[in-house]
Amino acid sequence: MLFVKKPITQLISEADNGKELKRSLNYASLIALGVGAIIGAGLFSLTGIAAADNAGPAVTISFVVAAVGCMFAGLCYAEFSSMIPVAGSAYTYSYATMGEFIAWIIGWDLVLEYALGAATVSVSWSRYLVEFLINHDLDFIPYELLSSPFETLSLSNGVVIDNGVINLPAIFIVMLLSFVLINGTRKSAVTNNLLVILKLSVVFVFVIVGWKYINPANHEPFVIPNPGETALIEGKTGFWAFLGSENFGHYGISGILRGAAVVFFAFIGFDAVSTAAQEAKNPKRDMPIGILGSLLVCTLLYVVFSFVMTGLANYKEFINDAKPVATAIAHTPYLWLQDGIIIAILAGYTSVILVMLLGQSRVFYAMSHDGLLPRFFSHVHSKFRTPYKTNLFFMIFVSLFAGFVPVSDLGHMVSIGTLFAFILVCIGVIIMRKTMPEVPRKFKTPLVPTIPVLGIVVCFAMMVSLPKESWERLIIWMALGIVIYFMYSRKHSFVRKGAGK
Ligand code: ALA
Repeated sequence: MLFVKKPITQLISEADNGKELKRSLNYASLIALGVGAIIGAGLFSLTGIAAADNAGPAVTISFVVAAVGCMFAGLCYAEFSSMIPVAGSAYTYSYATMGEFIAWIIGWDLVLEYALGAATVSVSWSRYLVEFLINHDLDFIPYELLSSPFETLSLSNGVVIDNGVINLPAIFIVMLLSFVLINGTRKSAVTNNLLVILKLSVVFVFVIVGWKYINPANHEPFVIPNPGETALIEGKTGFWAFLGSENFGHYGISGILRGAAVVFFAFIGFDAVSTAAQEAKNPKRDMPIGILGSLLVCTLLYVVFSFVMTGLANYKEFINDAKPVATAIAHTPYLWLQDGIIIAILAGYTSVILVMLLGQSRVFYAMSHDGLLPRFFSHVHSKFRTPYKTNLFFMIFVSLFAGFVPVSDLGHMVSIGTLFAFILVCIGVIIMRKTMPEVPRKFKTPLVPTIPVLGIVVCFAMMVSLPKESWERLIIWMALGIVIYFMYSRKHSFVRKGAGK
């Protein structure tokens, strides 16, 4: 039976068991955890890329579209996390609602979000680091060791790295932060709080300093016309022809939509809060506050931030620009701010990578705890009380992607994988209301099924707007997951065996 479910009472009693992970996070730490995971490469790198390639100044609208999708999915996440306060994120929720097979699919899919998300941000981290080193004549590392073999990277000193060998700085940061995590979540949360403050300072300084220097001409026209869309409206081309054409996703409405799927990356991570439920002091109250609070804070900041960024520099200046924040600042008299901002961004990225790696290890911890993955992944260190073997495993896995895969490919994979997970969570809430109406929920998603259905529609629209290759990769990854499920997980599942552990 594919759809065997894990009883909620069993989930909660396992979590209350006390001898596993420590409960050390309050709601403020959870919001910080969320903001720590959320603000990062999506804002500081992809805003510029989405403006240049997809939406123009209307990237601000892209942020709103992405936020709306996340808000709907976030409301669904919040209901789940308040009724099932245990580790494992969407994976755990779906185990109790949609059964083991779907839970496996989601858990497997979350690797795209967390592990590849960590890799994406590490690559972007490496880009900012390299720019900083170049600015200070400290670029002593051979250029081939700074970039993936599959991309061309233009540096600000005019050097073009055409197909490097490996991205060593990206691997370095992944390894460093994996060791921080192995040392324990509590210490990681303290570090995270400091980094979040620094990251928010970058956003505030940028907006306050930049606001006065916005050139209204850069916002004209706000929505860049798309010739394909014009032809579509005039009846000169059909919808499917337009969807398959080069014009789709480059400016106009479709550009805003693809821009939304790209900057959607900037919101990824708010759900990482839910993976820490087992470490929250009062999960029923604090989880919804943590998830929705961090999402709201970030949405407001992003809209203002992207408005200022595209107002300072023309969107075309951000083509292939790895450091759009610095580019925009160059349009103000405060050039000297660049160094401080780059350092703060570098520090800020570390908290994103940290939370991503944390989320990944906790999902695999939960899957292993259920027998769907080998015991190896749920082995907790006797002193640090962390699933250190999982951390080490993902240190290697994430490093391989960070070292060799281009950032844009990684980013698209993360977006499509996460959108897919969000859709399944939205479906989960609808199913749960029907099948388990009696289970108490501290937080209820309003207007069910309208909100979850809207979540599904908005997230699916963003998925559709992503390039074809992202779909192919998603399908290959999921097919691999299904093979592993039938070869291993199905036979080892504790719930299926009725072992009750
Ligand atoms: N939301 C995270 C970022 O923007 C993943 O980097």
